[in-house]
Amino acid sequence: MSKFKQDLGVIGLGYVGLPLVVESCNSGLNVFGYDNNSDKVKKLQNGTSPIEDISDEMLKKALQKDLTISDSPEALKDCEYIVISVPTPLTDYQPDLSYVKAAARTIAENISKDQVIILESTTYPGTTIEVLIPEIESISELKAGKDFHVGYSPERIDPGNETWNFKNTPKVISGIDDNSTKKIKNFYEKIIDEVVEVSGTKEAEMVKLLENTYRHVNIAFINELAILCNMLDIDIWEVVEAAKTKPFGFESFRPGPGVGGHCIPIDPNYLSFKTRQIGKPVRFVELAQEINNTMPSYIVSRILEKMNSLQKPMKNSNILILGVAYKKDISDTRESPSIDIIENLVSKGVNVSFYDPYVESLDLNVSVNKEQDISNFDNYDLILFHTSHSEFSKINFQEIDVPIFDATGTDYLSNSERI
Ligand SMILES: NC(=O)c1ccc[n+]([C@@H]2O[C@H](COP(=O)([O-])OP(=O)(O)OC[C@H]3O[C@@H](n4cnc5c(N)ncnc54)[C@H](O)[C@@H]3O)[C@@H](O)[C@H]2O)c1
Repeated sequence: MSKFKQDLGVIGLGYVGLPLVVESCNSGLNVFGYDNNSDKVKKLQNGTSPIEDISDEMLKKALQKDLTISDSPEALKDCEYIVISVPTPLTDYQPDLSYVKAAARTIAENISKDQVIILESTTYPGTTIEVLIPEIESISELKAGKDFHVGYSPERIDPGNETWNFKNTPKVISGIDDNSTKKIKNFYEKIIDEVVEVSGTKEAEMVKLLENTYRHVNIAFINELAILCNMLDIDIWEVVEAAKTKPFGFESFRPGPGVGGHCIPIDPNYLSFKTRQIGKPVRFVELAQEINNTMPSYIVSRILEKMNSLQKPMKNSNILILGVAYKKDISDTRESPSIDIIENLVSKGVNVSFYDPYVESLDLNVSVNKEQDISNFDNYDLILFHTSHSEFSKINFQEIDVPIFDATGTDYLSNSERI
């Protein structure tokens, strides 16, 4: 019988933390969610979920069961396990661990002996031992490994993915010692089908950076090939489809307008930061960043070419962007390439409108028109298909007499101009 009133406390209720509290509650755990954004907490307490993977119904069901949400952290002291899922952004192109440190201070102020603390935020190898533990120990005067347990587990959540979800995606874990590892394994086995143990927290931290840097580098490679294939008059999409028929040794990646979200454009910087401490850049990361960062301006240059071929000037033209989220069927626009594309088009005098059924507003330095629906396309000189939300498949594009530039390689747009 545990001496704790609650099984789990989670700090940071965003794309990672909210699914964790709701799914853990579904698995029968008694859960406390803490977020320091009071407006967000009010909405969550009323059963309004800001993310697509957790519906309002799912959240309400959990709240009626064993989930409590608050903007005050005191109840953390009653939780046997505490998971940290706060942001780890870049500030001035450098890893910013201020949120992790703040969460560590909150834990230290509310700590109880024998608690198990697990960091899930993406970060560079060494953070758990070099940053998290010293911060907690310096305030609480308790000792990691003796008075409380600590570990790291990277989060692999893929918002919008209907095949690989919270429960069936294997979870990598490690503690700072055998006892911590055992406790952390026990915990995740209650909520996730398969738990994969690695020997240390540095290895677990590095797993996440390998996974995301692998995607970043391969996306950059296929983007570069797409640019070169266009110059060589080769259809990259046909090439990718044919290469995919190889049943071994090839994983396909698709060209696109660039990379977005809170992982792929950011995490490789955490890796470079760490390797620069030993005087070594990760050359693949730097090259991949250079290529992926140029994709928005490449898209604009292709649109310019298309408009030239139609003998239409860019200045004062009307361009509609379909989809501004960084990937399909979600509302996340963080780091979305659509932002650079729109700002670039506006700087060329284009009147830009966008339509995205998931996105209420876009954080831009320029003014654009947000369409509420898309029944009429006649006023546009060109449509840029930026995000292939499932809902767009209902549009009869064959009937639209406006040139389309497809940045996504979507099947039903195969007759359009493509990346
Ligand atoms: N979004 C993803 O798909 C994804 C996937 C895997 C890993 N990650 C990583 O997980 C971490 C969290 O990402 P996210 O997308 O969930 O972020 P998010 O911005 O959606 O959510 C973070 C939440 O933490 C809260 N917060 C910040 N500081 C706090 C503090 N000191 N105390 C309490 N609450 C605090 C914020 O108010 C916010 O609600 C990041 O390290 C990210 O890189 C994200």
